Amino acid sequence: MPKFLTTPVIHHGPGSLGQLDEEIRKLGGGRVGLITDPGLVAAGICSRVVQATHYEVAVCDAAEPEPSYELVARCVEFLRDERCEVVIGLGGGSSIDTAKMAAVMMGNEGDVSDYFGANRVPRPGLPTIAIPTTAGTGSEVSPASVFYDPRDGTKKGVRSDYIQPKAAILDPELTLGLPQPLTASTGIDALTHAIECYTARAATLLSDMTAEYAIALIGQHLPRAYADGSDLAARDGMLMGSLLAGMALAVANVGAVHALAQALGGIHRVRHGVANSLLLPYVMDFNRMACRAKYARVAELLGEPIDGLSENAAAELAVAAVRRLTADLQLPQRLRELNIPKESLDLVAERTIETQGRIVTNNPRRLSVEDAKAILRAAY
Ligand SMILES: [Fe+2]
Repeated sequence: MPKFLTTPVIHHGPGSLGQLDEEIRKLGGGRVGLITDPGLVAAGICSRVVQATHYEVAVCDAAEPEPSYELVARCVEFLRDERCEVVIGLGGGSSIDTAKMAAVMMGNEGDVSDYFGANRVPRPGLPTIAIPTTAGTGSEVSPASVFYDPRDGTKKGVRSDYIQPKAAILDPELTLGLPQPLTASTGIDALTHAIECYTARAATLLSDMTAEYAIALIGQHLPRAYADGSDLAARDGMLMGSLLAGMALAVANVGAVHALAQALGGIHRVRHGVANSLLLPYVMDFNRMACRAKYARVAELLGEPIDGLSENAAAELAVAAVRRLTADLQLPQRLRELNIPKESLDLVAERTIETQGRIVTNNPRRLSVEDAKAILRAAY
């Protein structure tokens, strides 16, 4: 049955970090464990967050891109040693995913790997406040965390209502210093969430509403945020776009772009946003016949002139608009640019079907191993 679940309190806009202290208080106060990455400590963002509250904050800067699930165990140990009662995840999706999972593990026995899959976490853990510093993953409103499993070189998710953050603070001032390549790749990750959710088999009225608005906001603000990182209105627009795409994601889930990107990321450790960006236009071209009307609307939302066009021609414009946007943002256009050996494409395709079944079946067009191989070859 359709269900809409999101983070119950969302503060947003310039200066919204000022709400942090009150949110910690509402969650019971006490000692706070902040999980982030060393880059945000060096950039002074972490200390801005620590100074925004009078509660004592213990900082763990162990988060890293494309985290392995083993990292969570180290963060749980940290939260225990520091006797934390509230957790803050500060950073991109990796930091927030790690913080959410470490917080939930504080109320559960065993190992993260025991809980891979959907609805397998038996109990809630500590409450989490998510503070994103990239506009991309939507992790601040998602009941899922994704980790790399080094045992078999795959990326796996844990999905549980208990992982949902209790509050999110989206202050665009914290994203002003995000470098251009990360602005681009995380922004296209958000666009991928919106487009994949919009055309997902599990899409609902509510996920369509947030996905449509997300596509329009990202189309409008991503080029501006890339052109001038200090454009506060563009940064705010991107955080809103990413948030709305994340809301859609929590309901409708993604499809073949993410399935292929997760398999690619597991085998070749390609950054999530880069892999999505590269594959998005190729998968859209593949999916086009299954969702022409919705792609025509995507073209319109991205500002393409669709008046007088057939539905199919408008749908083609959506693919072209996305391709042009990723090129404008100077993101890689071909898998060969990422030094991926051509011989490994078949393995990536097989892994996609073997390990990403839940999102492969959510794709609007059925995807076989042969289809996955053809898409990867076209993208090579
Ligand atoms: Fe994503």
